[in-house]
Amino acid sequence: MAHYRAVGNIPPKRHTQHRRRGGELYYEELMGEEGFSSDSSLLYHRSLPSTISAAQVWGLPDQSTTPNHPLVPRHLRLHDLIDAKSVRRTDVVTGRRLVLGNGDVRISYVVAGRPSPWYRNAIGDECLFVERGRARVETVFGAFDVKEGDYVIIPRATTHRWLPRRSANNPLRVYCIEANSHIAPPKRYLSRYGQLLEHAPYCERDLRGPDGPLLAEDVGAAADEETEVFIKHRGRGPGGVVGTIHTLPFHPLDVVGWDGCLYPYVFNVADFEPITGRIHQPPPVHQVFEGHNFVICNFVPRKVDYHPLAVPVPYYHSNVDSDEIMFYVDGDYEARKGSGIAKGSISVHPGGHAHGPQPGATEASLGVERFDELAVMVDTFRPLDLGEGGLAVDDGEYALSWSRGKGR
Ligand SMILES: [Fe+2]
Repeated sequence: MAHYRAVGNIPPKRHTQHRRRGGELYYEELMGEEGFSSDSSLLYHRSLPSTISAAQVWGLPDQSTTPNHPLVPRHLRLHDLIDAKSVRRTDVVTGRRLVLGNGDVRISYVVAGRPSPWYRNAIGDECLFVERGRARVETVFGAFDVKEGDYVIIPRATTHRWLPRRSANNPLRVYCIEANSHIAPPKRYLSRYGQLLEHAPYCERDLRGPDGPLLAEDVGAAADEETEVFIKHRGRGPGGVVGTIHTLPFHPLDVVGWDGCLYPYVFNVADFEPITGRIHQPPPVHQVFEGHNFVICNFVPRKVDYHPLAVPVPYYHSNVDSDEIMFYVDGDYEARKGSGIAKGSISVHPGGHAHGPQPGATEASLGVERFDELAVMVDTFRPLDLGEGGLAVDDGEYALSWSRGKGR
């Protein structure tokens, strides 16, 4: 994020003495990307940020992956992944089920009903898409109230936790995109100084920054409350991912003020202004964020192609350089009609295999003026392997849905 923010109690000049009323110094921490060469923020702590009193292994959920071999397109039914009875015992951090992953990005899914532990991902930025439900996300930068359709972008190494709003009928469902890199708006939408340009489908006004500062006493905790922080980091485990739990002799919400261009933020998909045309627009118009070797796109309700002879559903396409993963959130996805794809489904269309509308979908789309669909797509430039969660809910028959004309 290149947009400067200043929150709470900070000194007029950086790297100078900043004292409490009693005269003690606050501890200044620079949180910066790419060494000292990219966006950063300065945070002012009440406690020494380096202090820990213990460290132990955090045994992560299964991070192993299986290649998509023999190569086939797949349909994964995410809503079958989580047993409703387990939701009360599940949190957004430790309850994630790995669905797909490669060396650049991991996609997991969770339905959560209880608060997560304090957590930071030391491997990369996270983009959490709230499919359903509500939560409060508390971070050292401040808090967010998040709801359906929100993308929550959490920079690498940000200490935070997820507190689901209790709802028996509408539990919190989160689609988790964990990068091994940073996640940002597409470069082509940014000025050379980082402002979102006029042709971007969203702008700074659509982004929510954290309310802050947020201190232990604001959440009913004592400043000296011993706290465990779960850290996901690089190491010799499946996917190069391992976990450690640090015990802090104080509460992590101890930042009295911060400023800079690096902080978590939220963008709601309903604020994405679709780019449409007389004939079919290519997927890059749907792009919302990007990381190293992958992009995130969203297909939102929109007016569709209005040339008198337009074909609104996509043409068949070979994504020569990428795997394409679509998560279907809402509405009817016109191109997939008859395939069994429904809300909560993922389609996996791997590189090396052409894909497109199911039989009959092209004809059915002719003359349609509007698509009522909401889907989140991740395209990766390296092949995606299947996680244990993906294998568990693979319908096993999607690859044949074009040859059978299934459902039509
Ligand atoms: Fe596609």
